[in-house]
Amino acid sequence: MVPEILFLKQEDVLNAGLMDMDGVLKMVEKAYFMYAEGEIKNPPKTMISLDSDEGVWKSRFMSMPVYIGGDINRAGIKWAAESTLNQKTGLLPMGIDMVVLSDPDTVLPVAIMDGTLITAMRTGASMAVAAKYLAKPDAKTAGCIGAGIIGRTTIWALSKVLNQLEKVKLFDLNIKKSQELFEEFKGKVNIEIAGSVEEAVKDADVVITMTTSQKPFVKKEWVNRARLFLQVGSFEAHEEIPAGADRIVVDDWEPIKYDPFSVFQPLIKSGKLRDEDVTPLYNIISKKSPGREGDEFIFFKSRGMGCLDIMVADYIYRRAKDLGIGKILHLWDSPKWV
Ligand SMILES: NC(=O)c1ccc[n+]([C@@H]2O[C@H](COP(=O)([O-])OP(=O)(O)OC[C@H]3O[C@@H](n4cnc5c(N)ncnc54)[C@H](O)[C@@H]3O)[C@@H](O)[C@H]2O)c1
Repeated sequence: MVPEILFLKQEDVLNAGLMDMDGVLKMVEKAYFMYAEGEIKNPPKTMISLDSDEGVWKSRFMSMPVYIGGDINRAGIKWAAESTLNQKTGLLPMGIDMVVLSDPDTVLPVAIMDGTLITAMRTGASMAVAAKYLAKPDAKTAGCIGAGIIGRTTIWALSKVLNQLEKVKLFDLNIKKSQELFEEFKGKVNIEIAGSVEEAVKDADVVITMTTSQKPFVKKEWVNRARLFLQVGSFEAHEEIPAGADRIVVDDWEPIKYDPFSVFQPLIKSGKLRDEDVTPLYNIISKKSPGREGDEFIFFKSRGMGCLDIMVADYIYRRAKDLGIGKILHLWDSPKWV
């Protein structure tokens, strides 16, 4: 047998239906639910980080293996990477990812695909799923910092889950990025471009930070009105913000707990944040833990779970096969040393 691998370049992934945000939202929620039910193996990602001469990371590579059981029955891995050089030149995406899917019985690889936009779509969707479960139902204003790729998909997904959302106040250090999103969402999401971080967040019910900043820049006194703070980057909130939260919710605690740069490190080291103080989002989705209670201030941190990528990638693979999209590659003509 000549094993066939379906290769899907980015255009194929798009033609197979990745831009269906409603569908991605459903898959992300399903992945969290299945994880809570013990149907998914998703060990913490491993990362190598290469430093620049200035002592901060210049690029990093993450390996994210997953098995999804139930009606999905798929093994896979995302090989994710980020480059600060790409960010500076603007010639390539900051994050560039690949996904490999495998047959769980024969272990043959069945698909290799671009995972760059899968990451973007599932991350936006995962922030929106967090908002769906954690925001006050009457949240009207979102203060968004960061108008890059994740900023784009998060605002898009958020507009689908926050039923009373009236306004997104958006700030990015690069005003052109905010203007691009303003144009892109015209007629669909009411975006107001803010002149500063403070202006974007001070009247917001929900604050979302989606930047590549390598140091904190959101001050506690600016977000007193907000009842929910969602952080997707590593550094954005000053530590007093999670310290003052009534509840800490995360996508997956282990990798965040051991992340030396995590916003929670000072709290963990001083004994103010213990494992039992942290609620995983998947337990709220599966009703194993209570959701929002009244007017509490919730701080949510996501680090990204591979099972979200593999869930979406498997859907794209199945669609691509049905639609006859992609290129067939052969692993070998006949395996040597069987
Ligand atoms: N948790 C997850 O699952 C997950 C997944 C993917 C990416 N990320 C993280 O999301 C963040 C954004 O990624 P991206 O792909 O959108 O990057 P991007 O380069 O496309 O966009 C980042 C934006 O942040 C802006 N920015 C940087 N510092 C800022 C500051 N201090 N104030 C305001 N704006 C600032 C930049 O100008 C840029 O427009 C990164 O930190 C990345 O590591 C997290």
